[in-house]
Parts: sequence; C-alpha cells; structure tokens
Amino acid sequence: MKVASPPFDSLAVREMYDLWEMAFGPDIAPDITFDPLSGAEKNANDFRVYRVFIADQLGATAIVVTPIALPELGALGEVATHPEFRNRGLASGLCEQLLEDFQCQGGEAMFLGTVNPNAARIYERFGWSHIPDTKLMVNLAGNETPNEFLKSYFTDQDTPKAKVGEATSRIPIIPLIVSPHSWSVLDANVSIFSPRVESQASCLGLYNRYQALRNESRGDWFTLVADSGKVLGISSAVHVEGKRFQVDGFCHESYAGMFGELIQAAISWCSDQGATQIIARLSSMDEEKQSLFESVGFHEQRLDGTFEHGNQKVDAVVYLLG
Ligand SMILES: CC(C)(COP(=O)(O)OP(=O)(O)OC[C@H]1O[C@@H](n2cnc3c(N)ncnc32)[C@H](O)[C@@H]1OP(=O)(O)O)[C@@H](O)C(=O)NCCC(=O)NCCS
Repeated sequence: MKVASPPFDSLAVREMYDLWEMAFGPDIAPDITFDPLSGAEKNANDFRVYRVFIADQLGATAIVVTPIALPELGALGEVATHPEFRNRGLASGLCEQLLEDFQCQGGEAMFLGTVNPNAARIYERFGWSHIPDTKLMVNLAGNETPNEFLKSYFTDQDTPKAKVGEATSRIPIIPLIVSPHSWSVLDANVSIFSPRVESQASCLGLYNRYQALRNESRGDWFTLVADSGKVLGISSAVHVEGKRFQVDGFCHESYAGMFGELIQAAISWCSDQGATQIIARLSSMDEEKQSLFESVGFHEQRLDGTFEHGNQKVDAVVYLLG
C-alpha cells in the first residue's frame, strides 16, 4: 500500500481516473478533480491518497480529505477496486489503514457517501454508521450517535462571519448540509434540499456543486464561518438572464440570526455584477425562510412552478428584492 499527497503528475492522475471510470462507470465524474490532485488546495486541505499496486498495476484507491484548520473532520472518497482484484480484501485493507491514520492525527468524524450496499457493508464493519435521512455515513472516534455528534459540533460557535466560499470549506460544509433542518429547500441554486425531504447522497461532491457556480461563471457562493473554521451557513447567487439574478441560502438553525449577513453577501455580489433585479425562489412550505427573506427587504411576487424533491411537488414562490 502506498500513501501519498498531491501534487501527482498527470500520468498518476490518468491512472487513477482510468480506474475510477472502470469502477464507477463513464457517466460518474470523480468528486476529486484534477486541480486538487495536482496540489491546488495544498494550503486548505490535506489530501491523503491510498493506493494498492499489484505487479505495477493500480489495483485499488481511497482518498481522505481533511481540512488543515479543522483536522477533527475528514471525508473519504474514490474508494474503488479494479474488477480483476475484487473480493481479496483490498478496499477493506485501505479503509482499516486510513481510519487508523486519521484517528492517530486527531480525526474525530470521517464522512462518506455511498449508494453501493457492497461498499456500505465494508464501511459498517469498520465502524461507519448511517446518518439518519441520508445516504451518508460517518465514522466517529467517540461514542455518540451521528445526530448527537452533529448537535454538539454546532454548539457555541463564536463570531461567525460571512465570507467568499473557499476550498477550506470543502469538508466543513458536509456536516452543515446533513444536519437536520426544518426548511425543505436549503439552496435552490444548487438543488440542495433538507435531508428531511430528500435523502442526501453526495459527500465530497457537495463542494464541487458550489464551486461549479464560480468555475462556470454562473454565479458565486459564500459561507458563514466561525472562528473555529466550522461552516454555519452557505449562500449563493446565480445569474438568471439579462440583469436578473437569484440568491438563496441557509444557516444552521442555531445561527438563524446571522442569515441576514449571509444572504447580504450574495446580494452584494449580484449588485457588483450590475443586477437590476434580484429574486429568490422559495418553497411555499418554508414559512420561516420566507420571513427571513422579508426581513432583508424581499417581498412576495408570484407563484412560479414547483420544487420536486423525493416524491413531493411543492409550489415555488418568487420573492423580489426592493
Ligand atoms: C466496493 C468495492 C470498493 C469493494 O472493493 P474490494 O476490494 O472488492 O473489497 P473487499 O475485498 O475488501 O471486500 C469485498 C468482500 O470480500 C470479502 N473479503 C475481504 N477479504 C477477503 C479475502 N482476503 N478473500 C476473500 N474475500 C474477502 C469482504 O469480506 C467483502 O465481503 P462482503 O461482500 O460479504 O461484505 C468494489 O467493489 C468497487 O470498486 N466497486 C465499485 C465502486 C464503488 O462503488 N465504490 C464504493 C464507493 S462508496
């Protein structure tokens, strides 16, 4: 087993991508893209790439990502074994080793997302358990249940501030998004719903969804970050058409009082782009969210289609700023 960190040369990246395409299928894009593998996030996140080679051929991979400023958190991704080498204990061996390394370095909670029951059996054997209402699992060094961990993780976070979304938030957005939330639509701009209404299956891919807004020049995203580096809220802004922009966002329920500052960051970005109309498209079910948008100057304008999450269809209401 080899353990290495970025930068990887393009040959090594190609080799991993070929294995992942074989393991996950050609239509599933890897959560870990070329940029972090070539070292682009070295000041924000520690990427540990675990690989098994069999006679010089890449046989299995797993990647653990830990925020440098918040080493108690981690996320596991790209667990894959070449079809020829399956059922020989390669993925199990990687999971056992990477978990030991993570916990030795102060890791407390390692998240992952899986829809593959064969993989879930391996994770369960090494102590991962399902987070209620999600397809995510977490391995906790302590004895709490996932919901007890999430509750204590968000308690008493000091001096949260709104700032532009960064790679340092790649992992800390995961516990925020999977925490129980009474709103149904958390962020319409990136189709993120409350786990209560739609089971969240993505883990490392959540950051990519936000970052794609910026990379594809469709919009931008912002975070509410405490002194500890924990992310307590996320907002986003997207260009709709002409000078029309749409904002959305959510906070952890304990920090709802900071929602105004967080959404203001998204509104200011729209204004900087020359927006003449800023809207929000909210679920008719989310009355508390509607009140928060009203408190920052939005007013209800009209019904506009539906949100579809799980098996439900819920009316969408457009709110206009000013
Ligand atoms: C899921 C996946 C990573 C498992 O990889 P693997 O290397 O075959 O996993 P392991 O060999 O450690 O475990 C597989 C099974 O073999 C068993 N096994 C472990 N060591 C063994 C050994 N030495 N000899 C025989 N069987 C063994 C395990 O107990 C496990 O049994 P189970 O199916 O009853 O739970 C692989 O099937 C894969 O790449 N799938 C597609 C990609 C994917 O879905 N990845 C997970 C993303 S979350």
